[in-house]
Amino acid sequence: MLLSLALTALAALSEVQGASASSEFTNPLVAPRRNFKRCGQVSKYYGQHLEDWNTYKTGDWLNNWWNNNTDLIEKNSAGFAGAFGQWALGNPDWSCRDDGSSTDCDLNLCDNRVLNDRGRDIRPTYYVLESVNRLHSYFSGLSQAFNTAALSAALAKDSWATTFYTDKDDKSSDSLKKVLSLVTTIVGVGAAFAGMGPAAVGAAAGAGSAIISGSNGAIGIALGNHADDTFQKSADLGGILSKVVVESLESFTTANNQLMDGQSYGDADIRSYISGGAFVDFQGVDKNAVTDSMSNMLIGTSINQLYRTQKIFILGGGACGDNQGIGSGPQESVICRDGKAWYLYYWQENSGPSLNSHQWGWVNPPPGSDKLGQAEYKGVSVEDILNSSLDAWNVAGYDYNADTAASRAHDAISSAWASPGSKGASWEGIFTVPVCDVSGAIGQNWDHGEYILQPYGHESRPVWCGDLCGDADKTKAFIEAAQMNGFQSPWHLCESKPSYA
Ligand SMILES: *[C@@H]1O[C@H](CO)[C@@H](O)[C@H](O)[C@H]1NC(C)=O
Ligand SMILES: *[C@@H]1O[C@H](CO)[C@@H](O)[C@H](O)[C@H]1NC(C)=O
Repeated sequence: MLLSLALTALAALSEVQGASASSEFTNPLVAPRRNFKRCGQVSKYYGQHLEDWNTYKTGDWLNNWWNNNTDLIEKNSAGFAGAFGQWALGNPDWSCRDDGSSTDCDLNLCDNRVLNDRGRDIRPTYYVLESVNRLHSYFSGLSQAFNTAALSAALAKDSWATTFYTDKDDKSSDSLKKVLSLVTTIVGVGAAFAGMGPAAVGAAAGAGSAIISGSNGAIGIALGNHADDTFQKSADLGGILSKVVVESLESFTTANNQLMDGQSYGDADIRSYISGGAFVDFQGVDKNAVTDSMSNMLIGTSINQLYRTQKIFILGGGACGDNQGIGSGPQESVICRDGKAWYLYYWQENSGPSLNSHQWGWVNPPPGSDKLGQAEYKGVSVEDILNSSLDAWNVAGYDYNADTAASRAHDAISSAWASPGSKGASWEGIFTVPVCDVSGAIGQNWDHGEYILQPYGHESRPVWCGDLCGDADKTKAFIEAAQMNGFQSPWHLCESKPSYA
């Protein structure tokens, strides 16, 4: 039922947009006149833009209206939306609730006597009506983006662990909670992405912030039911994730209804959500973009949790192309940023007893990385893993946790320094593969120092005989984060045991 409601609402929205677009873009000498004649004074203000909200001080106007009409709001069973609908359109049933009706937020502006008699108030009234209507369509569109077959199909893979996990020990049983603790933020990012084009974010930062904190509150409820699910290697993580995401639908309905009623949701009432003109010409939710972005972030987060339990790490910091006496990394898994090369590694242990040098394992691509960039994992690449992990490491070293993720996403959206949703799986902290800057090893003359970086392969076994990541503390922290505590392979050829070991 929710889905069909959302579809109807979106269809209604595109009609509204069609109408305002034609009044804006057809012959400017003819169209406004014709509209004016046809629809009354209000059509003078069609074709509104985000900036118009502030230019015409609509926020102040709405605050005054709110304060002047507290009685009307209290008396109307549909609260704020009902009272505003009554005052602006003569329609006390304009509830904009999600309760099965597909018409309770319709804008019948044309020749509306009540609206067209409001004189100087027509313009701000019209902007508020459009914003409320489009906020409503935002929630409906969001429900649709979170409920498509695409999202479930992308997430409902039961082969996660067998694809991305090959280590001998089963250390993955506590992973699910960590994945779930990030779902909140990812859904919040998705919700903000659905509401804010990059252009809107800057001008309407307050709204972006209200949306992300609102939706974080929304999903917390859905998460509760799954907090105790355990993730074994063959568990259907995708199934659980998509269930959690879809369950958040219900919370978006609650959010819509509380805001329309005039109550606060996530510490802000509807005035924050529509502030700055965030929704005054909102073009509707780009459902596919939101679905893709969220599934890529969720897939990335899940792969990351599995990678974090294995000997998977990033080395780099030397020149792109290497040739600095510390060996050469795998050129198929490199990014070159600011003149420095960074490589993604997996230290694979020998699977059986062995007396030759292979007992010390060798470096390879991480399990499943050959599946990335195609088919069901096409939205996640090795480059994403490198970029996302490097950004996280630059921000928080090896401690980029769920709280960091939430506060950074919130800050990026509200201060508009990045649009996390549009970055998908490359957004910082989706991956937190431990990074070690080995550039300090250049020119150090360590034992076997020419084998610090190695290409992938059965014969490739790096040798680290010094404090690889700059100093002993950093190197120890890296070794621990990369699940290599007590792992002798990197130093078994060293003349003396390095201090990190
Ligand atoms: C609110 O009331 C004041 C005082 O009566 C009036 O000047 C103002 O125009 C009203 N504003 C709105 C938006 O209703
Ligand atoms: C990774 O980062 C580099 C440098 O900042 C950038 O050019 C590249 O587009 C990024 N790749 C992805 C997949 O985001």
